[in-house]
Amino acid sequence: MTAPLDIVIMAAGKGTRMKSRHPKVLQKLAGRALLQHVLDTAAQLKARSAVVVTGHGAAEVEAAIAAANGAEGADIAMDLKFVRQEPQLGTGHAVQQAVPALKDDGLVVVLSGDVPLTTADTLQGLLDAAGSDKMALLTVTMPDPTGYGRIVRNEAGTVQRIVEQKDANDAERAITEIYSGIMAVPARHLTAWLSKLSNNNAQGEYYLTDIVAMAVADGVPVVGHRIADVLQVAGINSPLQLAELERAHQLRQSRQLMEQGVRMADPARFDLRDDVRGTKGSLSCGQDVEIDVNCVFTGHVTIGAGARIGANCHISNVSIAEDAVIHPFTHIDGEKVGVEVGAGALIGPFARLRPGAKLGREVHIGNFVEVKNSTLADGAKANHLAYLGDATVGERVNYGAGSITANYDGVNKHRTVIEADVHIGSNCVLVAPVTIGAGGTVGGGSTVTKSTEAGALTVGRGKQVSISNWNRPEKQPKV
Ligand code: UD1
Ligand code: MG
Repeated sequence: MTAPLDIVIMAAGKGTRMKSRHPKVLQKLAGRALLQHVLDTAAQLKARSAVVVTGHGAAEVEAAIAAANGAEGADIAMDLKFVRQEPQLGTGHAVQQAVPALKDDGLVVVLSGDVPLTTADTLQGLLDAAGSDKMALLTVTMPDPTGYGRIVRNEAGTVQRIVEQKDANDAERAITEIYSGIMAVPARHLTAWLSKLSNNNAQGEYYLTDIVAMAVADGVPVVGHRIADVLQVAGINSPLQLAELERAHQLRQSRQLMEQGVRMADPARFDLRDDVRGTKGSLSCGQDVEIDVNCVFTGHVTIGAGARIGANCHISNVSIAEDAVIHPFTHIDGEKVGVEVGAGALIGPFARLRPGAKLGREVHIGNFVEVKNSTLADGAKANHLAYLGDATVGERVNYGAGSITANYDGVNKHRTVIEADVHIGSNCVLVAPVTIGAGGTVGGGSTVTKSTEAGALTVGRGKQVSISNWNRPEKQPKV
């Protein structure tokens, strides 16, 4: 029988080298707080509880994490608690603060809030190695192990203890197998050993790693669970390390998509992030989807079979139907409401689709066209320099260059209805609320303030005056 799983996440450290006003564990990787990555991984393990040890910026960390995980749609099913560590006297001291929140019957996994890329599979491997009665340490071998705790094994290869860099002698410093900072240990043992820690070492800290020698002394087996992927144990201390791990994470995501058949022009130039509102980054693609370089996807995005995304697009919270083409430099953000792009639609280059844009099949939205909270039925076109806000546009409507809906009277928004087969000329202002009747035509340069009948031609502009044989003034000679 396996023991219930409880997670302790150490997140009290300051993160001085980030040089940020915000605590390190709230720095974002792929739009998500580092600590949230760790919690998400813990949640995949079906842990019973997670205890987060906070210290520096505790109030900010607790508020941000509680808000993210209490929110609707959050997928953290485990019991989440915070305990404070003041002052911060070392990793052993940090885990000591969590002891009152831990049950005796559990297996405890200790994680760090600044190590975001450990996979659930790796942690499951560690749990399997620990079973119900052993201690398991996640380790890796590094060509340059400087700074890390070293795994000291005896001649038989059995783990004896961990020695920290600053306490190690030359022979110990030559060891290349390091402790990742991640361990699994039965709660009842952990509690007993933590109470015996001392800070009699080079840093004057209570080292969690000292419990390894205690386990050996008490005859509790210690297993070193070694993995090859160094990225999974990489911690973040500086903006550069954050950016490097972000690239590694994005490459992982683009490789996964490519394994599903997505044609990425360059897997290294791809980004999928949570959006600014915290909607988890997710991209699902049908068959034969092509994505050119430097596209940023945020929030929830679906792309239908055969659709193509041009270079340098920013695409957020939208569903793009099959065979649509999004030309380069297009910005789409459905925010909470979403955007829909119909099958075979052509969007961009340089188009902007805002929340509530719903485009039917084969709709064309050209350069410098902005669409907000508007429905365009099948085959409607707005190809150049236009604005459609709060509009309902019928099938096959042609909306001319430079035309806009004047949807805002300074206080309220109003709707414009353009019925099927209408032709709106260039440079028109449709002052809402207004309806242009089906099949009607609006002459270029018109300002339309009254609704029009079906089939009518509407012209609302100053009449043209031409004076024949008119002479320009001539330049007067200087006196
Ligand atoms: C620790 C390990 C070392 C291991 C390395 C892996 C110890 C004594 N050493 O060293 O063997 O190789 O991680 O990265 O555990 N923290 C607190 N409260 C504290 C101190 C730290 O919450 O009082 C948190 C930090 O915010 C961080 C984590 O614990 O998330 C690790 O602390 P850090 O100071 O980075 O430990 P290392 O010296 O790197
Ligand atoms: Mg560290």
